[in-house]
Amino acid sequence: MKFLIAIALLACTVSGHSDWEDIEPRNIDSLVRIPPRGKAIEGRITNGEPAAEKQFPYQVGLMLYLDAGRAWCGGTLISNRWILTAAHCTDGINGVDVYLGATNRTDKTEAGQQIIHVGKKYVFVHEQWDASQLVNDISVIKLPVEIEFNEYVQPASLPKLGDSSLYTGEKTIASGWGRDSDAAKGASEILRWVEVPIMANNVCNRYYMGSVKDTNICISTKGKKSTCNGDSGGPLVLNDGSNTVIGATSFGIVFGCEVEFPGVFTRVTSYLGWIKEKTGISNE
Ligand SMILES: *[C@@H]1O[C@H](CO)[C@@H](O)[C@H](O)[C@H]1NC(C)=O
Repeated sequence: MKFLIAIALLACTVSGHSDWEDIEPRNIDSLVRIPPRGKAIEGRITNGEPAAEKQFPYQVGLMLYLDAGRAWCGGTLISNRWILTAAHCTDGINGVDVYLGATNRTDKTEAGQQIIHVGKKYVFVHEQWDASQLVNDISVIKLPVEIEFNEYVQPASLPKLGDSSLYTGEKTIASGWGRDSDAAKGASEILRWVEVPIMANNVCNRYYMGSVKDTNICISTKGKKSTCNGDSGGPLVLNDGSNTVIGATSFGIVFGCEVEFPGVFTRVTSYLGWIKEKTGISNE
């Protein structure tokens, strides 16, 4: 029984070749491999607040270069060399510009902002990423050089190796440059964030009819506070001052981000071994 549920991956396409004016989220079917049963998978922050500079120094923006054009996603800096993001963002890309320390991503003169180009050989997509089932939606990107940390650029912490906390009910912060409303045509210029509670997986699965696996973690989007298109791959961190990254934005429902369907993330604790194997980074 394959229920046709319209899941939306939360990446955001960027069309055309001119600079920024033409950024618009649209179906990314042609840009990432979308599950046949689903539609565009998208990620974004709705009904959140604009971030202050230096507020989320672990937040990374990704301008992805694909055969079909460009797309936008988020990511999390986890060391001076590595970024954690989603497989559906980076699968099949030709290269990526990594934005570090940015708030207004269109302002190239912004204090603290750095853009580093990374070739595809430095992009590592989970070997078992399955776009039809949306499982193992995780990848890591290696920066070509070690970067220097400063007040604009700092890594998030990984959960302790072996941690299997479910985090149900805990307060978390999701952030990104995704669309800031269902009416918004393009990704946001300004980084935005929301505080959202973790929803238990079994509750989340009532909405997604079994598509949510143990390797996912969900947020409640009550009050229409949600991730949206363009937030994909970006951070979900515990709001306890520890900047511990527990999720990477994966998917939502295709009908919109303001329909109070839970937001679904890749559950970082499920992949701590994989992250360690690929990057050497772990919290022990
Ligand atoms: C972001 O930067 C661009 C380019 O400098 C500027 O035109 C735009 O007004 C800025 N956006 C906001 C919301 O400050």
